[in-house]
Amino acid sequence: MITRPQAKALDAADPLAGFRDLFVISEPDLLYLDGNSLGRLPKATVARVREAVDDDWGRGLVRSWQAGWMQRPREVGDRLAPLIGAGPGEVLLADQTSLNLFKLATAALDAAAPRSTIVSDAGNFPSDLYVLAGVAERAGGSLVTVDGPESFSAALDPSVGLLSASHVNFKSGKLADMAGLTGRAHDAGAMVLWDLSHSVGAVPIDVNGAGVDLAIGCTYKYLNGGPGAPAFLYVARHLQDQLTQPIHGWWGQQDMFGFDLGYQPAAGIDRFAVGTMPMLSLIAAESGIEISAEAGIGVIREKGMALTALMVDLFDELPGDLGFSLASPRDAEDRGSHISLSHPDGYRITQALIERGVIPDFRAPDIVRLGAAPLYTRYVDVWDAFDRLRQIMESGEHLAFTEQRSGVT
Ligand SMILES: Cc1ncc(COP(=O)(O)O)c(C=O)c1O
Repeated sequence: MITRPQAKALDAADPLAGFRDLFVISEPDLLYLDGNSLGRLPKATVARVREAVDDDWGRGLVRSWQAGWMQRPREVGDRLAPLIGAGPGEVLLADQTSLNLFKLATAALDAAAPRSTIVSDAGNFPSDLYVLAGVAERAGGSLVTVDGPESFSAALDPSVGLLSASHVNFKSGKLADMAGLTGRAHDAGAMVLWDLSHSVGAVPIDVNGAGVDLAIGCTYKYLNGGPGAPAFLYVARHLQDQLTQPIHGWWGQQDMFGFDLGYQPAAGIDRFAVGTMPMLSLIAAESGIEISAEAGIGVIREKGMALTALMVDLFDELPGDLGFSLASPRDAEDRGSHISLSHPDGYRITQALIERGVIPDFRAPDIVRLGAAPLYTRYVDVWDAFDRLRQIMESGEHLAFTEQRSGVT
C-alpha cells in the first residue's frame, strides 16, 4: 500500500516543487487535476496583463503596435519553439487551434492536389475530425478515419495528401509515435500535421528531428496561457514559402500597411497569420510558456510520468469490485500526462469528486479524466484525490447525483 507520508516524501524530493509557488493557488485544499484542460494562472501573468493594460494600452494607445505589439506573435512563437523542437521563425501564436488546423490542412491539401484524401484517427479530438472532413470535402475528397494511429499504414494510398493526428489522445492519453508515423506518411507521399494540444508542455517533442511538416496546438492546457489563449502553429521552414493558407487577411500580407488591392502572401511564417492579434490574450500567454521553458521539458516529463504512474498504482489499489477500468496505457512511456478511468457511473462520480474538492473532467460516455500538471500538481494531491475517490465509491455518495449530463464537463 502506498501511504500518504510516502507521497509527501516524493514531494519533498521533487526538483519542480518550487514551481508551484509561481502559480496562483487561491484554494489551497482544492485538488486541481484538470490542468490538461485549463492550466492554472501564473502569478507573473497577473502583473504582466496589468502592465499591458495600464502602460501599453492605457498610455501607449495605438503607438504600442509600433513599439512592439506587431512583432509579439512571432517573438512568443520563438520562445515556444524549443518546447516542440522547432527553430526560430517556425512558430507563430495566432487564432484558435481549430482555425489553425483549418488553415494548415487546407494549405497542405491545396499543395498536394490532385491528392484529396485526409487520413486521421477515429479517436482524434472530434472537433479536429469536423474540421478535417470539411477541408477534405472542399478539395473534392474525403476524410478517412482508422482505428488508432497503429492502423494508419493500411490507409495510406496514393489519394492521401495529408495525415493528421493528435500526438497525445485526448481521451486515453496514449502517445503516438510521431517520428515513425511521419516517416510512413512521407514514404506514401503525404504530408503530416500533428495536433500537439495534449503534449506541448508535458512531453518532449522534436518536430524538426521527426521531419514533421505542420503542427498546431493550444496554449491554455499545460502551458497555462489562460482561457481562449491564442493557439500556435508550426510550419517547417522549407515549406513556408511553398504553402498558401486559405484565409487571405492583411496580417498575412507582404506589406500590410501598403493596402494594395491584391493579396501577396508575406514571406515565412507570417503568411499564416490572418487578422489583428488579441494582444492582451497573447501577453497573458507569455509567462506560462516561459515558466515551462525555464523548468525544462525533460524534468517536466520525468515528473509527469511519475505522477501518472502514482495514479495507476493507486488505481490498482482500489477494491476490484468498484467497477472501474483503466482506459489509458499502463506504461508511462506510452502516455502523456493524464490518465482516464472508465466507469458506467463516470458522470456521477465526476460530480461527487467536484463536490469533495477534486477537479477532474468527464469525457462522454464514461471517462473520468485525471490530469497531472507537473509544474504544480503534487504527489500528495494525487494521493488525496484517490483517497476521496475511494471514500465516495465506498459510501455510494455519487449515487445522489444525476446521470443527466449538462453544461461544461
Ligand atoms: C486535442 C485538441 N485539439 C483541438 C482543440 C480545440 O481547440 P480550440 O478550441 O482552441 O480551437 C482541443 C480543445 O480542447 C483539443 O483538446
